[in-house]
Amino acid sequence: MPLTIGSLELEAPVLAAPIAGFSDFIFRGLVREFGGCGLIYTEMVSAGGWIDGRIEPRRLRGVTEEPRPLGVQLWDREERPIEEAAKRLVDLDISVVDLNFGCPKKRIMGKHAAGAQLLRDPATIGRLVAAAVRGAGSTPVTAKIRLGPTMGMRTAVAVAKAAADNGAQAVTVHGRTADQGYGSPCHRQEIGEVVDAVTVPVIANGDICDPESARKTIEETGAAGVMVARAALNKPWVFSQISAALEGVEIPPAPSLDEQRTLLLRHHALVVDREGDPHGTVVMRKFACRYLAGMPGSRTFRQHVSQAADTADFRRIVAEYFPTEESQVTQAA
Ligand SMILES: Cc1cc2nc3c(=O)[nH]c(=O)nc-3n(C[C@H](O)[C@H](O)[C@H](O)COP(=O)(O)O)c2cc1C
Repeated sequence: MPLTIGSLELEAPVLAAPIAGFSDFIFRGLVREFGGCGLIYTEMVSAGGWIDGRIEPRRLRGVTEEPRPLGVQLWDREERPIEEAAKRLVDLDISVVDLNFGCPKKRIMGKHAAGAQLLRDPATIGRLVAAAVRGAGSTPVTAKIRLGPTMGMRTAVAVAKAAADNGAQAVTVHGRTADQGYGSPCHRQEIGEVVDAVTVPVIANGDICDPESARKTIEETGAAGVMVARAALNKPWVFSQISAALEGVEIPPAPSLDEQRTLLLRHHALVVDREGDPHGTVVMRKFACRYLAGMPGSRTFRQHVSQAADTADFRRIVAEYFPTEESQVTQAA
């Protein structure tokens, strides 16, 4: 079944998550190149910061230039900035306005009483969704939630209902509570409980890293789609593999190590082109550290690339420490 969010029919029921510090314009472009991703979201953007002019939303850089569909994620706890920001996003021809109700960061939950802190209060979530819907008009609004603020307070069903009753056209559920952070296993069964409770599509999120985990998640939750975050950082091609598996067609192979090295160098060049050097190289360190995750040789590569000073240094480190097909064979022998 195709996944439809309001008036938007996605080409594949596989979504790329908002990832603060990572899902920027250049990263989104690389994900699009590999295909298979039905909808990609930006990093979360402070609605109030943008509307009140307190911050220049760097996280919106590029959104006018790139292809659609594109979702932008907003966070705030007040209706006025959410409504106004949603209006502005419609003017930018954004395909989906998403609201963040899952961020577990102390600064967001504590100082701003936003993100996952709002999971304590389904009625406020309902009002914020309604505000976004007023601002967005016919552009679909989605909500991204966790199971609750704490293991002892699991509010996902009430929150999802409040979001859907107030006009959210889909709800993404990360199968952990905020106090679980990112480490402990995901609770798929509780995502399934949300699926049963609302009539809008539910997108399952958490620990989906390959075709097998995607298939299993859909089977166990009944979700209409899956959203991938961390696995996309070391495998931006994973969307093409998952969508092929869900479609029942042949799964494309992962790029070879040589192709991954070429991708990394191109990624670096794009970032430096935009940010200049050495700043672009510094920005690129965190991305480079995600490449190769879990592979032999990745630790040594990470140790060096996380110190890369500028383009020449970055290229030298890649030439010296990025594993080759031959080094993998030697290590395995
Ligand atoms: C570094 C990092 C930044 C994140 N930034 C956001 C964000 O801006 N908005 C959001 O809703 N979730 C954010 N998340 C959560 C992810 O979107 C996702 O819900 C979570 O990582 C679980 O999915 P995964 O197991 O596929 O990584 C972030 C996660 C990480 C690791």
